[in-house]
Amino acid sequence: MTRGPAAPDRPADVVLAGATKRVGATTVLAGVSLEVAHGEVVALVGPSGSGKSTILRLLNGLEAADGGRVEVLGVEAPRSDVPATARERHWLPLRRRIGFVFQAFPLYPHRTALGNLTLAPTTVLGRSEEEARARGLALLDRVGLMARADAWPRELSGGQRQRVAIARALAMDPEILLFDEPTSALDPETIGEVLEVMRDLVAEHARTILVVTHEVRFAREAADRVAFLDGGTVVEAGPARQVLDAPAHPRTRAFLQRLL
Ligand SMILES: Nc1ncnc2c1ncn2[C@@H]1O[C@H](COP(=O)(O)OP(=O)(O)O)[C@@H](O)[C@H]1O
Ligand SMILES: [Mg+2]
Repeated sequence: MTRGPAAPDRPADVVLAGATKRVGATTVLAGVSLEVAHGEVVALVGPSGSGKSTILRLLNGLEAADGGRVEVLGVEAPRSDVPATARERHWLPLRRRIGFVFQAFPLYPHRTALGNLTLAPTTVLGRSEEEARARGLALLDRVGLMARADAWPRELSGGQRQRVAIARALAMDPEILLFDEPTSALDPETIGEVLEVMRDLVAEHARTILVVTHEVRFAREAADRVAFLDGGTVVEAGPARQVLDAPAHPRTRAFLQRLL
């Protein structure tokens, strides 16, 4: 199913326009253009080294573009020539509106599953412990882990830990959720449970989601659009089924064939 943006009148939550990034002599991003509307779900697909993670990192200020334009939640991001302290000032208030789930983001090891969910809401958002716990429990329930609220991270499987990490991101009520290969580090038997949680999330269209994934079937079913990246640029982008089932570009075709 492909749906349009949830809020067509609202400006795009994410705008990349000719964004470039070099690290030393390496061109990491060679001019990336992509817009993601509020409530839209976009999968970033492409070979290793094509710049997918760097794009996500531009969107929460872990990296700054050297050229081109990056806009997140209606505000233009400072480029790399802006001093780091000024960039941090820009990103600090924005970051709490942007959730990030990494490939293998460690939970806080000395806090329980529920404790992982209450930390940021109490310290950053100033919610009461009671409120944060109630909401944390509801989120654990949502990812099927209510019964493990008091478990320590080491007592959880990889898939369970990643579900807690997703719930932890949701606890901040982010407007944008960024996922960087959320199932790549998992055992095959736990990938499904994480994808199921993500399917449930994207079906809501309540927030803007960018997900880097090699799970083509998931991307086809869950994403509104797919952007295929290669060599630091968007080679083709369009409705998920169009890009994945009938790719226009030979590089997309070659990549997808290798995955099958
Ligand atoms: N800080 C860095 N230092 C050196 N090379 C980097 C750095 N960040 C990214 N790169 C290089 O940029 C390219 C794209 O990286 P990345 O965005 O991680 O790609 P992907 O997520 O698609 O695998 C890779 O070739 C990587 O080695
Ligand atoms: Mg990556």
